[in-house]
Amino acid sequence: MAGYDSAPYQLDPREWPSMVCEPPGPRSRELHGRCTTYFKGLSSQVKLFPVAFESGRGCTLTDVDGNRYIDFSSGIYVTTLGHCHPRVTEAVQRYAARLMNCHDFTTEIKTRLVEKLAEILPGDLSGFQFYDCGTAAVEAGLRVCRAATGRHEFVSCFYDFHGKTYGAVSLAQMRSPVYGPARAPGFHMVPRPDPYRPHWTRPDGMIDTDRYIEFYEEYLDRGTAHQVSAFVLEPIQGWGGSVMPPDDFFPKLKDLCEKHGILLMADEVLTGMGRTGKWLALEHWDVTPDVVTLGKGLGNGFPVTAVAVRAPYTESFERISASSSYGGNPMACAAALAVVETIEEEGLLAHALELESLFTRRMAAWKERYRIVGDVRCKGCLMGVELVRDKSTKEPFPEAGTLVYRKAFRNGLAWIPAGHILRMSPSIVMPEEVADRAMTLIEEAIAETERELL
Ligand SMILES: Cc1ncc(COP(=O)(O)O)c(C=O)c1O
Repeated sequence: MAGYDSAPYQLDPREWPSMVCEPPGPRSRELHGRCTTYFKGLSSQVKLFPVAFESGRGCTLTDVDGNRYIDFSSGIYVTTLGHCHPRVTEAVQRYAARLMNCHDFTTEIKTRLVEKLAEILPGDLSGFQFYDCGTAAVEAGLRVCRAATGRHEFVSCFYDFHGKTYGAVSLAQMRSPVYGPARAPGFHMVPRPDPYRPHWTRPDGMIDTDRYIEFYEEYLDRGTAHQVSAFVLEPIQGWGGSVMPPDDFFPKLKDLCEKHGILLMADEVLTGMGRTGKWLALEHWDVTPDVVTLGKGLGNGFPVTAVAVRAPYTESFERISASSSYGGNPMACAAALAVVETIEEEGLLAHALELESLFTRRMAAWKERYRIVGDVRCKGCLMGVELVRDKSTKEPFPEAGTLVYRKAFRNGLAWIPAGHILRMSPSIVMPEEVADRAMTLIEEAIAETERELL
């Protein structure tokens, strides 16, 4: 493994996974029953496998029955450096004992964090504000775009996800009645290019990015009030199924935005901070967003998120009442700074790209080998595998997704449940040996599922 010394806090990879009973085991069931008497509103992930976890270390998890799992979801795309990285733990502990909160007054740790972020992020991203969840960062990002442009409309994309408050859901699919009767006024949605399921193709059958851009141009003219402040989108769709855009999409979208004086706001809550082997996923296409949101991996589990803006827009923060109760608290800043320094010092961006080669090689073979594997995609440690009933019709196969998920989980892979798209986000500290074993667990589950369902 060139350049990466398997972090000393990793346990012996040969001991993982190790299952002592069928999950959820008796202690998990007992604890889960007690907890859910009062704790309501569980995700489908928990409903499918109501396991109670006891501890996490590096890229592994242990449940209360003693089952040991390889963690292939990182919480929910959160613990990019694995669980309880000693540097992050020590940083939070230090500030928990020194200074927990002083609203948005200056602290040394916040000063060092903003200086560091300005250094590592591309281009002139150099104005920051901090929050405690991704959704709050998205909402602040929208306000800053409005303040910077003096316009109020937004264009976002089908199947993207940005959070669950009113502005954030107005950027995505509205589920009435719980999110209200309609999206907020001035929010528009357009399709985005998915190379596996394109709306428009060229004569050679490849996705036609230009046609998407032409459509956006027409939509800006015909479908909006010519008051669009920003295009808001995920560089790679996380919840949408790790859908990667064609390589020419973001450069062309950025040109379109510049032509119309529209800001490009990238929601990198899921894709940022090393998950794809770069600080920002947009760096894969050499595009710098005007506004970008960061979260999840930024604190590696400690709740800290951020909005960053390019130099020309930094003063817009002054007009949005930007501060919040927890944003930028010393513990949060210490966690985020420890994350950035660890990624740099341990060469983890490079390691994420080494893991990408391994994952890509394994998944490419699945596409050849299995009739139900329609498409595979990977950037760094963000992956998706699309399962279909029939490769020619590309009909989604959600029953296969659920079965593959269950089988691999039973064998010791803690990961994200699928509709028809298997979604994986392992930690970027994962040793290659463990990554390879995890891919074998998934492949075995796919092979068994195909035998059972076809
Ligand atoms: C791209 C993106 N934006 C925003 C959010 C919301 O983040 P949070 O759950 O921290 O509010 C998420 C959460 O999954 C996300 O994936």
